[in-house]
Amino acid sequence: MAKDSTPPRNENRSAPISEAFRAFIQTGWAQPAPVSARPWPVSRNAAGRRDEISGQFPGVTLIVPAGSPKQRSNDTDYPFRPHSAFTYLTGWGHSATPGSILIAIATATGHEWELVMRGPAPRTSDEFYANAAIGEFWTGRRPTLEDVGTWLALNTREREDFELPALTGPWAIIREADPVLTAECDAVRGFTSPPALDADVERVASEMRLIKDDYEVSELRAAIASTHAGFNDIVEVLPRSIGHARGERIVEGAFHSRARLEGNSVGYDSIVASGSHACILHWVTNDGPISPGDLLLVDAGVERDSLYTADITRTIPVSGTFTPHQREVYEAVLEAADVAFAMVKPGVSFHEIHDTAMAVIATRVSDWGFLPVSLTKSLKKTSQLHRRFMIHGTSHHLGLDVHDCAHARKERYLQGTLAAGMVFTIEPGLYFQPDDETVPAEWRGIGVRIEDNILVTATGAENLSAAIPRSVAAVEDWMAG
Ligand code: GLY
Ligand code: MN
Ligand code: MN
Repeated sequence: MAKDSTPPRNENRSAPISEAFRAFIQTGWAQPAPVSARPWPVSRNAAGRRDEISGQFPGVTLIVPAGSPKQRSNDTDYPFRPHSAFTYLTGWGHSATPGSILIAIATATGHEWELVMRGPAPRTSDEFYANAAIGEFWTGRRPTLEDVGTWLALNTREREDFELPALTGPWAIIREADPVLTAECDAVRGFTSPPALDADVERVASEMRLIKDDYEVSELRAAIASTHAGFNDIVEVLPRSIGHARGERIVEGAFHSRARLEGNSVGYDSIVASGSHACILHWVTNDGPISPGDLLLVDAGVERDSLYTADITRTIPVSGTFTPHQREVYEAVLEAADVAFAMVKPGVSFHEIHDTAMAVIATRVSDWGFLPVSLTKSLKKTSQLHRRFMIHGTSHHLGLDVHDCAHARKERYLQGTLAAGMVFTIEPGLYFQPDDETVPAEWRGIGVRIEDNILVTATGAENLSAAIPRSVAAVEDWMAG
């Protein structure tokens, strides 16, 4: 197997190395200071998760890659982020060494887990100073196998010493984590199409994440607290964004700054949508002006170093108060969110949240006279005309990924039942496109979404983001400083 999946780099900028320079640069370095030699608390949670998945796949060797950096352009990469299944099963978040692989080797009694990774390039190697992908001159200090073994309470092995063909018996890989390694696995296994076992492992790793443990809930709470701080920053910079040709970027930058300060980054590209941009559901260009009288829709979340992310939307009136039309739309969306939240408790079906929110949306647009059919007819599965004004879903699971548990079966997700420990969004909206001739001119270009992050408790639910102003009065007070 390839020793790492780093794309080949151009040679046209590398200078020749003299023997004298090599001898000089490889010597004279102090011993690195020791790092913390205690296991991280999350290592216990991760060990429990490994036991659980091990129990589901007796006799099957499991390969969970962290993945490799993704090329952005030429010899620059996107910031590395390990695959969420890897982080879930190891507890290793933003600082994970690229190219690491968690492996469960099937034994007669269960699995032996080990983490395969590259340690730092030795200071006596050319890589130490000449390899931008792994040399500490370029990347800063990298943990040793011993450091990582202690933090994560896992056996570690040098990547160079690991060979896929040495594995025996059935084995499976989380395919999307590392396409290069997956292709090698398929070649070694002699597969030309993805085996069902790979999909099974991916599904189980996803479904396990449907119920969050206490550590995960506390990370999500912290992500939401940082996101709240980021939204406060937005309100603070808003006055100087008004009138600027790219005012949305000022707002995006303020939130991003908070995300980098308190977390790893943003958990997804922030949507900063002023005026009719709010009707573009995934408006991430964020290069428009912010004008007095507009509504500003911001959908943004801080991702922690643990990689848990918030996913919050607030829609605020740029001038500080809602116009009557804006307020009417806002209150309809808020009502949809509140009615949906009120029904959340264990045992309720996931899709009922959406149906409940949509019933409010449909009722309001019908009351306003925007439907060419009766409300009753629009609510029928065969009609659904009101969806013209809210085309997206109301909820998705939230955790390590903003759209978490992506490989869970429909029976466990959309057609599943709520259980204590689930965390998901409630995010109804109403969007009147600027060119929609079916609504009166004064409604066109208004877009509102309110998105909160909800924890299912033993008896009901907690809105984890309730402290970020939501009601008309609370938002207007917030804007008034
Ligand atoms: N920010 C993406 C979403 O709300 O699903
Ligand atoms: Mn969302
Ligand atoms: Mn969102």
